[in-house]
Amino acid sequence: MLIKRPRGWELPESEATPESEFLNRRRFIKGAGLGAGAIAVGGPLLMSAGGSAAADADPSAGLYPVMRNPAYELDRDITDEMVASTYNNFYEFGSHKRIARAAQELKIRPWTVELAGMVESEQTVDIDTLLGKMPLEERLYRHRCVEAWAMAVPWSGFPMKALVDLARPLSGARYVVMKTFLDPDMAPGQKQFWYPWPYVEGLTIEEATNELAFLVTGIYGKPLPKQFGAPLRLAVPWKYGFKSIKSIVRFEFTDKRPVSFWEEIQGKEYGFWANVNPEVAHPRWSQATEELIGTGKRVPTKLFNGYGEFVADLYKGKEGERLWA
Ligand code: MTE
Repeated sequence: MLIKRPRGWELPESEATPESEFLNRRRFIKGAGLGAGAIAVGGPLLMSAGGSAAADADPSAGLYPVMRNPAYELDRDITDEMVASTYNNFYEFGSHKRIARAAQELKIRPWTVELAGMVESEQTVDIDTLLGKMPLEERLYRHRCVEAWAMAVPWSGFPMKALVDLARPLSGARYVVMKTFLDPDMAPGQKQFWYPWPYVEGLTIEEATNELAFLVTGIYGKPLPKQFGAPLRLAVPWKYGFKSIKSIVRFEFTDKRPVSFWEEIQGKEYGFWANVNPEVAHPRWSQATEELIGTGKRVPTKLFNGYGEFVADLYKGKEGERLWA
């Protein structure tokens, strides 16, 4: 059953534009959906685990900052930390951008990650064990939402290929399906029955093992704040942001292409590939330009979000498919 509901990130770009002005003014007082409690937002939302009590401290805090990998360069300034930390999509905690405070309810320990499906041997790995095994590094990436806004952030994390290697998929596996946690008591958005929870996304094995596919565990030199999808989220910067699933608990290897969360809700607008292309408009707005949040500037959108040299070859021979939405 599909119920058409307006979603915050589906605003046409003309309506999305005033957001930066809004951020530059009195962001916490005038923001729609934010109550008085949000005025004191600064401290906790920039902290690793988001909470103020020592018991809530993120046990991975000592791992950061990690060394920056210079291979990934930006053509724009890094987005201000406070701007990026208070402008998020995480529907589990609300269908608008101001979910940062609500997302502090996310419990990120204990946290385990399943490596399942078509693998040599299924495993469940504790997040801190995983962090101890993976080659952590920092990368500066652009991040482009289908809604036509963008930011640039210093993610910390590890190449997704390292996780695929750990999982040891069978030769017949063609896709990796990722799932977010399911806990409607903790994440009230999951009580909204018209969404097909839990959030699901997928990549081909070739995409998942491309050097750009990155599993994120930190940002701005610290553990990942909850609103960004702690303790483990994806960053695939050549694709629209909805592919970059947050708070992952399961990686399942399969020979069947999955139907992802937004594809299931509105398949005509959001498909499996979702590669960034300025020339292919969303059915309801242009993708030719993007707003750099927090700056008031609009810049031209780039094919593959500027990452064509890394990923264009992945799509050779697939020109007949809907690669761009
Ligand atoms: N992952 C989950 N589990 N839930 C979500 O609502 N939103 C997606 C993606 N991953 C989403 C998600 C969308 S639409 C975008 S644009 C990015 O997360 C936003 O990431 P950010 O908040 O770090 O900018």
